[in-house]
Amino acid sequence: MTFLTIDAIGKSYGPTLALDAIDMKIEAGGRTAIVGPSGSGKTTLLRIIAGFETPDVGSLILDGRALAGKGVLVPAHKRGIGIVSQDGALFPHLTVADNIGFGLAKKAADRDKRIAELMEMVELDGIMAARRPHQLSGGQQQRVALARALALKPRLMLLDEPFSALDTGLRDTMRRTVARVLRAAGTTAILVTHDQAEALSFADQVAVLRQGRLVQFGSPRALYGKPRDRETATFLGEAILLDANIVSGRADCVLGSLVVEPGSKKGRATIMLRPEQIRLTTATAGSEGPVGHVDDVEFGGGDCMVLVRIDRTDRAMPDFLSIKCVGFDIPGPGALVRISVHGPAHVLAD
Ligand SMILES: Nc1ncnc2c1ncn2[C@@H]1O[C@H](COP(=O)(O)OP(=O)(O)OP(=O)(O)O)[C@@H](O)[C@H]1O
Ligand SMILES: [Mg+2]
Repeated sequence: MTFLTIDAIGKSYGPTLALDAIDMKIEAGGRTAIVGPSGSGKTTLLRIIAGFETPDVGSLILDGRALAGKGVLVPAHKRGIGIVSQDGALFPHLTVADNIGFGLAKKAADRDKRIAELMEMVELDGIMAARRPHQLSGGQQQRVALARALALKPRLMLLDEPFSALDTGLRDTMRRTVARVLRAAGTTAILVTHDQAEALSFADQVAVLRQGRLVQFGSPRALYGKPRDRETATFLGEAILLDANIVSGRADCVLGSLVVEPGSKKGRATIMLRPEQIRLTTATAGSEGPVGHVDDVEFGGGDCMVLVRIDRTDRAMPDFLSIKCVGFDIPGPGALVRISVHGPAHVLAD
């Protein structure tokens, strides 16, 4: 069932078109990640949903009730929406405990217990309860902001890069904790992130924004496997992008003739392969299929980048491909390797 409908939302600040005709439907209990470069309109969209900004055009419907558009404007505090903003926005004069308990009834019998539970949930030590925000690190402030938003048990939670000030280990734990807490409460969530792993693992839908436009919206699997364009392809993971000519369901490219997905466009195009589709094996002169020489190996622990040089008979310059490989049994520089491709190549639409 659709819980939130974003219908043709547009917003300009003077000459800047921050959002242009954004359409999205979000299911109840769903987790949506919004990704896109800096300035693409992510925060503006969250602020419009929360009620801190008014859209110029378009409408918003939450759980069957109009929030904005067509002459309606429900104020932020009546929307039942929680937001963790990019800067945390804690009340500087209040203690950690009072920040977290801000929306809880002052005289509620279980107020202190609830604050302690929320602090534990976001892994904040109880001794911090009496501190003020300026006495906390950036990551601790983000966790206070998260606890404050969770305290109100919102129907919809908006998270604007809430984990950006945390280090990798804590970031992963927090992301899992928040996903678990939201799922247990049946809360619908929208997360803005710059981190592709975070977007793919947190969300069941990913929205890609660029220059105020929604470029692509779909499941993490669909976006990873079938991105529309180069930026989306490279944002969501390592991608090998090749110029190709598509004829009769095959792509003619530097790796020979590769199968493409049915229904792909024809003619000159860019194709994409994910590194897990490619195997490098040691070859001998006269080996069949595309071969190349290892030019360089960049050691990266579990994953290594192998730069392969492919000499061309039809061109003066060789082609170079960077291929990510699992970090054992990697052929060394100078080795002749065969490059085999598994599964169809994806043809980019743009
Ligand atoms: N209050 C405002 N007044 C004028 N321009 C604004 C205002 N808020 C945002 N903008 C502009 O609108 C565009 C979108 O901004 P927004 O904050 O939504 O980007 P973002 O995708 O959240 O970027 P980031 O990843 O850097 O947080 C930018 O060009 C920004 O400068
Ligand atoms: Mg932002």
